Amino acid sequence: MESLSGLKRSHFCNDLSAKNVGEEVTLMGWVLRRRDHGGVIFIDLRDRFGLTQVVFNPERNAEVHAKAHALRSEWVLAVRGRVEHRPEGMTNPNLKTGEIEVYVEELRILNKSMTPPFPLDEETEVSENLRLKYRYLDLRRPGMADNLILRHRATQAIRNYLNSNNFLEIETPFLTRSTPEGARDYLVPSRVNAGKFYALPQSPQLFKQLLMVAGMDRYFQIVRCFRDEDLRADRQPEFTQVDMELSFVTEEDIYEVTEGMMAHLFKETLGIDLALPFKRMHYDEAMERFGTDKPDTRFGLELISLTDVVKECSFKVFRTVVEKGGLVKSINAKGCAHFSRKVLDDLTEYVGQFGAKGLAWVKMKPDGEWQSPIAKFFTDEERADMAQTLDAEEGDLLFFVADQPHTVHFALSELRLELARRLDLVPPDTFDLLWVTDFPLLEYDHEEKRHTAVHHPFTAPAEEDLELLKTDPGKVRSRAYDLVLNGTEIGGGSIRIHQKELQDVAFKALGISDEEAADKFDFLLKALELGAPPHGGIAFGLDRLLMILAKRDSIRDVIAFPKTQKATCPLTEAPASVARKQLTELYLRPDWKE
Ligand code: AMO
Ligand code: AMP
Repeated sequence: MESLSGLKRSHFCNDLSAKNVGEEVTLMGWVLRRRDHGGVIFIDLRDRFGLTQVVFNPERNAEVHAKAHALRSEWVLAVRGRVEHRPEGMTNPNLKTGEIEVYVEELRILNKSMTPPFPLDEETEVSENLRLKYRYLDLRRPGMADNLILRHRATQAIRNYLNSNNFLEIETPFLTRSTPEGARDYLVPSRVNAGKFYALPQSPQLFKQLLMVAGMDRYFQIVRCFRDEDLRADRQPEFTQVDMELSFVTEEDIYEVTEGMMAHLFKETLGIDLALPFKRMHYDEAMERFGTDKPDTRFGLELISLTDVVKECSFKVFRTVVEKGGLVKSINAKGCAHFSRKVLDDLTEYVGQFGAKGLAWVKMKPDGEWQSPIAKFFTDEERADMAQTLDAEEGDLLFFVADQPHTVHFALSELRLELARRLDLVPPDTFDLLWVTDFPLLEYDHEEKRHTAVHHPFTAPAEEDLELLKTDPGKVRSRAYDLVLNGTEIGGGSIRIHQKELQDVAFKALGISDEEAADKFDFLLKALELGAPPHGGIAFGLDRLLMILAKRDSIRDVIAFPKTQKATCPLTEAPASVARKQLTELYLRPDWKE
């Protein structure tokens, strides 16, 4: 193998054009393709920036040409040579360097490569496990490299915007105490404190509040968060937040700063002008119309309540659900009465995954006739009432789910998304941003038989609901907000509690005893008594945001080294076993058996 000694790169592989013709240049990169044309050898030399065609001609330099015979895909080269116009008819207008080629006078082979385990083009389908095992090759593929470049540009744009709006970038600890964001913690045993553990932060929530008490006024951090939860396409065990906190603010200030940041980000990365201000919707309305707190409002198919219309009908399933405090809701799939029995069975099975015990349907025939397994349970008058409520006409297909509210909403919101996919209702290249506001402060956890925080325990209750906090906590609304992009929750935050008395009341409503509060959050409670200003903030899921900007289906595609759905890393094979000695040093007993 040869060295770089005495050689200095003069250009990147996308730099050269007709105006460089005649110059002597030195390029370095990888062999993308090698073509042998009756003696003349062409190599497409690739680096991060682009491609340049380099030529080995036996008549010009026989020695170098002979050496080029050995070259194979992904070998690493340095070439020194002269830039020339490509011959008539050989130019490539699709390539930035398509007018020129470099005639090689010196070739150095810096490294060989085995045949890669998969082709490094964009087109070939490769299993994700193999891609992750050889991630450094996967990242050589143009689309993946583009994603990392987009990520870099996005974080630069965010930093620039926040910097010019008086935010300070401040780091917070990774080795810390548990932060209550509702997931399981990753724990790190302490070697020097027997039997004690750090928790990796689920977010910098408490530290950023303390920075407000410290008078930093406006903080941000692009920071890794760790949550041990069941993984999905948009969830990773470690993910990145754009985390912010501001002092002396209300919700409106947070919306304004966020909207400015998003507008700047979209302009800098995609060249798109977002419409400002973003739309807003109350949580109650989102649940009522879409069955979810992160509605995709790019298409219709809204949920319509029939609870009142069917409460006295003779269909036992619907009537008993209503009697037990449940709901009957419907979606009118306009013009879908042609769906086959097979499709209806598939959809029934689909909603079953989300807990629905059935999916009743009606095909609207001429003259208001119903074709439906439940037609017989309804009088003409009830059918007319239902059709009117649903604005149902000939050719429509109506779906119904009856159950407790949570199940009805979960099943129908997922059915809505599935119908939109099947009917191709989502307009391409739209970025639909929506604030969801006025969340409930607490939700009742039926397993634990107590209220838990919908957002987190430091979220302020709505001022007009303060009295309810002691009498009917379930009814209290919060000062929390989420930002939803195309039906994905990309950010969430709240105005915080900044007075100790109120934090005490909130802990009580959450069933957190004084002892537990003192044990876990004493440092926060103390700080609230030492001049805490009113403050609030928000955090964005950077990976989710980039997944949407890059038009990918998985956040793994915008993370350099992500984990699999089982939280493993095929590249390093983490997590891995450790030596007995390491365990005993950490006061962990090594007698665990699979
Ligand atoms: P929250 O828990 O809502 O709020 O998180 C903020 C945003 O982070 C993203 N996110 C994730 N992305 C990928 N993988 C995950 N496992 C994952 N979990 C969350 C989401 C989410 O909207 N401290 C508060 C913020 C605040 O109150 O200021 C917090 O962490 O896009
Ligand atoms: P059954 O009388 O159980 O055969 O149900 C008649 C129709 O009602 C079937 O199409 C079922 O899928 C549907 N169905 C049953 N339970 C529910 C429910 N909880 N919500 C909506 N539809 C249901």
